[in-house]
Amino acid sequence: MTPPPWSVRRPPALDDALIDGLADVLIDCVEGGASVSFMHPLTRERAVAFWRRVARAVAAGERAVLVAEDARGVCGTVQLVFDLPENQPHRADLAKMLVHRRARRRGLGEALMRAAEATARECGKTLLVLDAVTGGDAARLYERLGWVRVGDIPDYALYPQGGLCGTTFYYRRLGG
Ligand SMILES: CC(C)(COP(=O)(O)OP(=O)(O)OC[C@H]1O[C@@H](n2cnc3c(N)ncnc32)[C@H](O)[C@@H]1OP(=O)(O)O)[C@@H](O)C(=O)NCCC(=O)NCCS
Repeated sequence: MTPPPWSVRRPPALDDALIDGLADVLIDCVEGGASVSFMHPLTRERAVAFWRRVARAVAAGERAVLVAEDARGVCGTVQLVFDLPENQPHRADLAKMLVHRRARRRGLGEALMRAAEATARECGKTLLVLDAVTGGDAARLYERLGWVRVGDIPDYALYPQGGLCGTTFYYRRLGG
């Protein structure tokens, strides 16, 4: 079988080159209309500032960032957020699942999800929680992978170009 044209890893730290590549992916997703916390146009300065904050959280052990790279550089990413209240040490939030448009619909989203779940298990987590635009590409991916749909909140956020979208919450128990 042909190996996939990308590899996924969990860098111990996010250096400037990775931050640059991650900013490219975030900007591409926002330009493509993804509702991922940012409005269009997302400047490089704001995107880099976001990833610098994430880099500090990685250094503090508050987040894990998975990075997918292809021949052109960073092409996808997803995060586990560990910085939760002290009565929730067994769980993590899954956030900022982003695949560059050049790499979509080839199984990278699924590979990132499986890698994130494996990383969460390695970190001793037994429960993951996330939310996604209701009825969007990501929601379909999570349901295909067996995440349990909790419910929808209408008009939760704006698309980057404006217009409200609902969000759907999901959870996944991580078996032993
Ligand atoms: C959601 C997202 C991460 C999915 O990434 P992806 O790499 O395209 O995901 P996959 O390739 O695993 O699956 C996507 C589709 O491609 C299909 N696919 C996977 N491998 C394929 C292949 N080799 N050939 C053809 N189709 C394939 C999957 O079946 C799936 O189909 P569906 O959408 O009809 O259900 C991506 O669209 C994205 O980054 N969107 C913008 C950001 C965003 O919204 N993030 C979510 C925040 S919650």
